[in-house]
Amino acid sequence: MLNIIILAAGQGKRMQSDLPKVLHPIAGRAMLGHVLAAAQTLSPDRVVVVVGHGAAQVQAAFADENLVFALQQPQQGTGHAVMQALPHLLEADADDTTLVLYGDVPLVQASSLQALLQARGTGLALLTETLADPTGYGRIVRDAQGRVQRIVEHKDATETERAIREVNTGILAAPTAALRRWLGQIDNHNAQGEYYLTDIVGLAVRDGMPVAHSQPAAHWETLGVNSRMQQAQLERIWQAEQARRLLDQGVTLADPARFDLRGTLTCGRDVFIDVGCVFLGAVQLADGVRIGPHCVVQDARIGPGAVLDAYTHVDGAVVGESARIGPYARLRPGADIGPDAHVGNFVELKKTRLGRGSKANHLAYLGDAQIGDRVNIGAGTITCNYDGVHKFQTIIEDDAFIGSDTQLVAPVRVGQGATLGAGTTLTHDAPAGQLTLSRPEQKTIPGWARPARKA
Ligand code: UD1
Ligand code: CA
Repeated sequence: MLNIIILAAGQGKRMQSDLPKVLHPIAGRAMLGHVLAAAQTLSPDRVVVVVGHGAAQVQAAFADENLVFALQQPQQGTGHAVMQALPHLLEADADDTTLVLYGDVPLVQASSLQALLQARGTGLALLTETLADPTGYGRIVRDAQGRVQRIVEHKDATETERAIREVNTGILAAPTAALRRWLGQIDNHNAQGEYYLTDIVGLAVRDGMPVAHSQPAAHWETLGVNSRMQQAQLERIWQAEQARRLLDQGVTLADPARFDLRGTLTCGRDVFIDVGCVFLGAVQLADGVRIGPHCVVQDARIGPGAVLDAYTHVDGAVVGESARIGPYARLRPGADIGPDAHVGNFVELKKTRLGRGSKANHLAYLGDAQIGDRVNIGAGTITCNYDGVHKFQTIIEDDAFIGSDTQLVAPVRVGQGATLGAGTTLTHDAPAGQLTLSRPEQKTIPGWARPARKA
């Protein structure tokens, strides 16, 4: 049985926030969410999250996941935190393992955890790191043969021990039964008056149990977040890592340092992404897609060869092959842009299909509309889809031509090949193939003079 305990009871005072620390995001996802995702890839039999500060908020945020919460109140150290999880651990045989993770060390990668579990064998395994400046960390004390003896916390360490640069990251894997036994034997007689989880290392050595170690593949995997500054630093580290992965896959990023992904981005071949774009949720960019500068793209599928020009905002939309969107366009949920279609500046679409080769190039609102192929939507066209209570559909058939500054008062239908004159307020269906317009007749007043100012 594999148990995973995630410590998340700490207050995070230095965040200066009402939000519990582990709910603060990295790349748009709560730190605890990152840790849980790494944990889940190990297919654990049980995941226990130890909560304390802001427990109700943390539990509410992860209520849907298959988790057990253990309350630690008050917080008396990492050993005390793990004790609160003990009643929930699953045990079947001597192979039972418990892995301890921290909710505020969000970027630990599954591969490094897998390596730690491998290293454990039948004993205890510590994830350690060698740092140029080990200040503040627990030090790994080894004997003359290099065997791990114990961990000493910085505050309890002698000068000689403080010179040790190999540190405890806090992440460890232990045999479940032995962990239970050791935690029954630790006390809080130390500089901080806390129950140290790290004291189990000395107890393992006393019991003749081997203590193995492994190191994470990347240094940033074990960085913790205690302040907004550290959160910001980890955010940039993670964004750089995501950018690197995309570059490795053959995506061109105009500047990897000006790229933000808060979700998942799947790219085809020869995709180009300009500076300052933000991708959210699940986004798919097909082969040859070009994204202009400063676009925001969320939960969208962009077809092969399509272009999003500068400052385009896309959310919950599908864009067809070789379509051109923007600059300054807004595609809202349910927008479905056909192949070769154009959506230009200051055009907003919502729950609207724009057919193949159709164009809405300037200043329009198209909501709850079905627009056919090769339709031209003139500048200033608006679907009046809402009466304050209900939403109504507008249907525009293939090859229609909608003159500029037209209001389509839904529900209304424009027939195939119909033309609407500029300025029309369409309240009844427009028949196919004919010109329809609503417009007071133009007149000129002869002899009219503009009022003049007295000199
Ligand atoms: C701990 C380790 C130290 C290691 C360091 C790495 C111990 C005694 N020390 O230091 O060897 O180098 O991590 O960062 O284990 N937590 C609780 N309940 C508590 C105390 C802590 O849930 O009562 C959680 C915190 O929210 C945090 C994690 O445990 O996620 C670590 O706590 P923190 O106080 O940052 O670590 P230290 O004990 O200083
Ligand atoms: Ca008008």
